[in-house]
Amino acid sequence: MPRVYNGARFASPSQSILKSQRSLSMDKTEISAETRKMLEQAALKVMKNAHAPYSKFRVGAAILLTNGKIFSGCNVENASYGMTNCAERTAVFSAVAELGPKIEIRAVALTNDQGVACSPCGACRQVIYEFGPDATVFFQGAKGPKQAHITELLPEGFRFQ
Ligand code: THU
Repeated sequence: MPRVYNGARFASPSQSILKSQRSLSMDKTEISAETRKMLEQAALKVMKNAHAPYSKFRVGAAILLTNGKIFSGCNVENASYGMTNCAERTAVFSAVAELGPKIEIRAVALTNDQGVACSPCGACRQVIYEFGPDATVFFQGAKGPKQAHITELLPEGFRFQ
């Protein structure tokens, strides 16, 4: 049964959502409002696990794979600031650790505990692009909720030819 993974934790989405995810894995239709909401809820839940004593800015991310599975992650900071891992990369790396490198990201949702505008940083855009060159990203923009294709956020992302 598909689950929302974040390390050792998981939750089971409702049947109707699973149905829409199953159809998502078969075609490239728009992400439904229901699926977007479920991703945002998964991001909000994992956001509470953030380790953000330095910035005091907690972030949660949830990714939907084309196989219908959802993984989530939070930001994990370090006293050596540059070692910080963003929520998005935590979610992507968790999915790869669980399922291996053949994952395909269909969508990403981001939340933060201050309700402010927050789009993925440049490093996370490149990591999302690696596994989701056709991914849709949901985030808080300056004027409210936004969605963008990963290539709008990262034109000409790097990949080996
Ligand atoms: N952060 C994320 O986790 N994701 C983003 O998209 C933007 C920034 C984190 C990194 C750091 O822990 C804190 O937010 C402040 O930059």
